[in-house]
Formats: sequence, structure tokens, C-alpha cells
Amino acid sequence: MDIGIIGSGDVGRTLGAGLASLGHTVQIGTRDQGGEKIKDWLDANKPRSRVGTFSEAAEFGELAVLATLWSGTENAIRLATPANLAGKIVIDVTNPLVFKEGAPPALALGHTDSGGEQVQRWLPDSKVVKAFNTVGHASMVNPKFENGPPDMFICGNDEDAKKTVGGICKAFGWGVVDIGDITGARLLEPMCILWVKYGANANSWTHAFKLLRK
Ligand SMILES: NC(=O)c1ccc[n+]([C@@H]2O[C@H](COP(=O)([O-])OP(=O)(O)OC[C@H]3O[C@@H](n4cnc5c(N)ncnc54)[C@H](OP(=O)(O)O)[C@@H]3O)[C@@H](O)[C@H]2O)c1
Repeated sequence: MDIGIIGSGDVGRTLGAGLASLGHTVQIGTRDQGGEKIKDWLDANKPRSRVGTFSEAAEFGELAVLATLWSGTENAIRLATPANLAGKIVIDVTNPLVFKEGAPPALALGHTDSGGEQVQRWLPDSKVVKAFNTVGHASMVNPKFENGPPDMFICGNDEDAKKTVGGICKAFGWGVVDIGDITGARLLEPMCILWVKYGANANSWTHAFKLLRK
């Protein structure tokens, strides 16, 4: 499948490399196509790698990944042009974080709203699925843990879209926990804060969540 990634940071490049390793052709969108990290990513993932503008990546992908800094996400979507993403699955990896010097990251919105719901409102004709936001980028692809595979928690309004995204998670080595419609992002985004809080306390960044069932 052709996949467009809106965002060239650690998440965009990590998921892009993982998706290319599964045989997909991946175009990363960025405002800075000449950056060293993106050039290295392009070379490392040939022949399945492409780089373009946000708009070109959105148009290229049959499915898209949204991996942008929260404060720039509305602008990135505007630059990508929502019409380029209409009818398509958009995997929303963003966490709606605000950063203040000397303080841990906090959520910009929550309880009665979420980043996932906001992204779905910005992209009303796309099938937004929240996924990959509850773990650090280093463990997103082929997660290896002593206690077995961790679970990726996902949510979204379109059942078929969640099946497709769940299939990608499974191909990377995750168990999948579907928690329902996109309002579930109100719970998945605080899990990012929990992930960071545990990491800061334990001074360890190699952890992930798993749901135990009887
Ligand atoms: N890092 C992690 O381990 C991790 C884990 C889970 C979820 N997340 C979430 O995933 C998202 C991406 O994280 P990241 O660490 O890969 O990178 P990031 O630094 O949060 O975001 C980088 C991307 O945001 C874009 N961007 C920044 N400001 C922008 C603006 N004003 N207008 C348009 N685009 C803008 C950049 O565009 P250019 O390419 O043009 O510079 C770049 O592509 C974030 O929402 C983060 O909270 C991160």
C-alpha cells in the first residue's frame, strides 16, 4: 500500500521505516525536505521511501499517519489539505501536549474532549484512528519485552479502519485493544502522561502497556 506520513520527527521516521519494512511504499511529508535526518531516512529505506511536502504525502497515501507536534498539527493539516485525506484512514499518533520549562508535559485538552476528536473534526471526511500514542517511538515497531508482546490501545469511529490499523499493529508485533469510538482518545492521551510519569520516576524509558484478561 502507498502510505503518506504527515510529520518527519522521530515518530514519522520510525513508523515510516517500519511500514517500509512491511513492504509498503512510504512518503514522509515535511516543510524541510533538505534536513539531514530526513535524507538519512530516505537513503536507509530505499527503494520504498519518498519525501515530499505535507500536501504531496497526504495525496500519495492510500492511508496516512499524522505525527506532528500538537501545537503545529492544525497548521500541518491545513498544509496537507483535508481534501487530500478525504475517505482515507488517518492514524493519529499525536498527543495534545503543552510544554512549560521546568515542568513535565501536560495535556492541552481532556476529560470532555481530546486531540483525537479534534483531529477528527479537522478531518471530517477521514477515518481517524488513534494509535501508537501510548508508547515511546523506540518501541513502536517490533516491540521486544521479556513478558511477551505489549498491547496497542486504539480507538476510532470506523470499524473497518480499526481492523486495518489493528493489522498494522499486529504486523509490528503488538497485541491490539480496541476501546471503541474516537472519544476513547480522552483516555488514551492521558496514558501518554502515565507513560512519561513512570519513565521519569523509574529513570527508564523501555516500558509499554498490556491489558491482562482472564
Ligand atoms: N516521540 C515519541 O516517542 C512519541 C510517542 C508517542 C506519540 N508522540 C506524539 O507524536 C507526535 C510527533 O512526535 P515526534 O516526537 O515525532 O515529533 P515532534 O517534534 O513532536 O513533531 C515533529 C513534526 O511536527 C511538525 N511541525 C512542528 N511545528 C509545526 C507547525 N507549526 N506547522 C506544521 N508542522 C509542524 C514538524 O514539521 P517539519 O517536518 O516541517 O519540521 C515535524 O514534522 C507528537 O504529537 C507527539 O506528542 C510522540
